[in-house]
Amino acid sequence: MAGAARVVLLGPPGAGKGTQAKLLQDEFGAAQISTGDILRKAVAEQTPLGKQASGFISSGALVPDSLIVNLVAERLKEKDCAKGFLFDGFPRTIPQAESLDGILKKAGLDLNCVLSVQVPQNIIVERLAGRRTCRKCGAMFHVAFNAPKLDGVCDSCGGELYQRDDDKEQTIAHRLQVYDTQTAPLVNYYRARGLLREIDGVGEIDQIRARVIEALGDLVR
Ligand code: AP5
Ligand code: MG
Repeated sequence: MAGAARVVLLGPPGAGKGTQAKLLQDEFGAAQISTGDILRKAVAEQTPLGKQASGFISSGALVPDSLIVNLVAERLKEKDCAKGFLFDGFPRTIPQAESLDGILKKAGLDLNCVLSVQVPQNIIVERLAGRRTCRKCGAMFHVAFNAPKLDGVCDSCGGELYQRDDDKEQTIAHRLQVYDTQTAPLVNYYRARGLLREIDGVGEIDQIRARVIEALGDLVR
């Protein structure tokens, strides 16, 4: 799998992980693995996983590690991951990162980069409060920064756009707190392993895309 992207996009809620991962899928031919998207689909379909995860997600808390690690291990077995993968929203805790190391080692793989996307808190709140997500295909828009052509309608598939439950102001504050206490320690975890690269996540979506490609280019081409 030389030349394949095996990347973690690390950053707080609203850093633009999902937006960039979707663009990078095309650039690098790697599969986006968004644990948030997988969980929201499970909630919408009322699967056993969805029923267990629903309360955690709507309150802005993390879903227990045991549920997440299993779903990632299964997702990595899917065919599209053979050309590489971009984790978006995983790992979120040190135990998740340790489990990922174990899962990859078992498959004879390792990560080639952890890209930390940095965005200050005031911009994060603005981004999350204005985000609209497609119910059908999961595409993301923003009422001001990345508006759909038709209000409330997805440009890609015509699906209905909605506001995520956890994008309400109070829940956003809680998610940011959870990020600081449980996820931010991963920056040092990966720095110590020589995997960390950092980019400024403030700017136009295309500018950030160019920064991400520059940061990852030598690893995946
Ligand atoms: P998850 O879905 O992973 O959410 P998150 O990490 O909180 O991140 P977001 O999806 O909110 O932000 P993003 O960085 O993807 O930004 P986006 O590109 O959308 O997790 C949700 C919940 O699921 C968690 O709280 C937890 O309960 C559970 N969960 C998920 N994974 C878990 C795990 N591993 N362990 C435990 N629990 C887990 O951009 C945001 C907005 O900004 C959009 O409107 C976009 O259009 C706009 N935007 C993007 N880039 C720019 C830009 N450059 N300029 C202007 N606007 C921009
Ligand atoms: Mg996301």
